[in-house]
Amino acid sequence: MLINSQPILFSAIQPSGKLTIGNYIGTMRHWSNMQNKYECLYCIADLHALTTINKKKKIKNEILDTLALYLACGVDPNKSIIFVQSQVYQHSQLNWILSCFSKFSELSRMIQFKVKRKQNSAENSNIGLFNYPILMASDILLYQTNFVPVGKDQKQHLELTCSIANRFNLLYGNVFTIPKPVISQNGSKIMSLLDPTKKMSKSDINKNNVIFLLEDVSSIFSKIKNSITDSDNPPKIYYNTNKKLGISNLLEILSAVTNKKINILEKELNGVLYSEFKNIVSDSISKFLIKLQKSYMIYRNDECFLKKIIQNGAIKARLKSQETLKKVYSAIGID
Ligand code: TRP
Repeated sequence: MLINSQPILFSAIQPSGKLTIGNYIGTMRHWSNMQNKYECLYCIADLHALTTINKKKKIKNEILDTLALYLACGVDPNKSIIFVQSQVYQHSQLNWILSCFSKFSELSRMIQFKVKRKQNSAENSNIGLFNYPILMASDILLYQTNFVPVGKDQKQHLELTCSIANRFNLLYGNVFTIPKPVISQNGSKIMSLLDPTKKMSKSDINKNNVIFLLEDVSSIFSKIKNSITDSDNPPKIYYNTNKKLGISNLLEILSAVTNKKINILEKELNGVLYSEFKNIVSDSISKFLIKLQKSYMIYRNDECFLKKIIQNGAIKARLKSQETLKKVYSAIGID
């Protein structure tokens, strides 16, 4: 049962069977522990995915893949509310209202929008890409969320959420709780293997940049072997994201999959050659992925169970979000 006195935490990922080790380390790794400290809502953001997904592809399987991954990462449907965004209509309803409290200029400043817009040709850009942060604000504010775990790339969206909520509250009283970010110290941004100046992304065209949670572990060794480090002589393994981007990135990955602190790893790896270091990293990732994939398969093969979780989650999420939506309607005077 959920204990109401705990602070509320909201997190979401866009559905994809192609989630990366970066998604795991930056976000999903922390979800299991958070269930003991917070009342957690874990959302599968399928409406957000519509902004970029190949429109002919069915999103249904991706949702089930993602849910099975959530469970394999230790999310417990008895402790947390797990739900699919599109099944809780309140999200779209609040989205419209909040769009009337958001400014064109502030949305134009969103870094992710600017980047995505550059990636898409003009005719492929859709308005959903622009409105994306307002839907995100709706996700968060509907549940009177206290905390949102965010990677560095989503921080600006959370700040916008707070601005919109404050603007609304100023006019209508304290309708929304103002959320705070939870930013993890290390690993909130895993970088791409061949170019550690850019974020590891599931949509990268070069698959050698990325380690997928569900990929065959036979490819891990060559991906890590080819990853970019540096030419320091003598080679030295330590964490420094200014001077040693590639090595720091591998250290962060190693730390997450072995559950060892980076300073301990630095001591253990003192004097180790890069080639040997890479072997250790590959081995550790492979062991970790094999275990995760085994658990994933058990859940993924039980679609009945997965669908029940989604149904129950939607019922709980609708009840909670409706309370806030009612307050909003009544504040504006459209109740
Ligand atoms: N935009 C987030 C991402 O792609 C996913 C997301 C949707 C989200 N709604 C959210 C994250 C609300 C935090 C809070 O990573």
